[in-house]
Amino acid sequence: MISSGQNLYSPLQREVRYRHIINRLGMMVAFLAFIILALIAMLVFRRAGANEMTLSENKNSGGNVSDMMPHAMNYKPEEGKPNGEQLFEQKCASCHQVSTENITGPGLLGVSERIPAGDWKYKWITNPAAMRDQEDPYALKIIAESNGNMMTPQNLSDEEIDEIFRYIDAH
Ligand code: HEC
Repeated sequence: MISSGQNLYSPLQREVRYRHIINRLGMMVAFLAFIILALIAMLVFRRAGANEMTLSENKNSGGNVSDMMPHAMNYKPEEGKPNGEQLFEQKCASCHQVSTENITGPGLLGVSERIPAGDWKYKWITNPAAMRDQEDPYALKIIAESNGNMMTPQNLSDEEIDEIFRYIDAH
């Protein structure tokens, strides 16, 4: 009479019980599988994100100019010349980013291609208000577009300005 305990249930009752247990187990397994898959998916996406970042960083250091976003420098200051990057940080970065984003001043990515050629940049940077007063057309245009912000004059030599632009153009 070893199996008497099992025989308390009719075969049909037993099957119903087993089915019940199997159903519950199935649900638990499905649930666990779902969680595990979700975790794997999260890991994979994170990884992908990290790879993208290292990819674009590699691109930057490789010197390829990508239009997508501002990135690390190809700028190297020359011996005995002012350091355009440092000057930019000291004199310009409070109002300008080298990107397409406007903060107080317009983003300066690609600025050399839109400003008037020649010595416009030296005149503007050392005395923006004078350019406005002389009704320089490009000065009036950018002033009108900058929501009432006005650039402050920057006491810089032409050579320093050249280096700042070399730094900006290296983006
Ligand atoms: C106090 C804020 C401020 C500082 C500091 C500043 N700028 Fe500006 N800059 C502006 C604003 C605002 C404009 C938009 C025109 C205006 O309203 O004066 C502008 C416009 C310009 C433009 C023309 C942008 C375009 O889209 O054509 C250039 C180039 C420029 N600045 C370069 C510089 C450089 C280089 C420096 C650092 C030496 C500098 N700025 C420092 C606020 C500033």
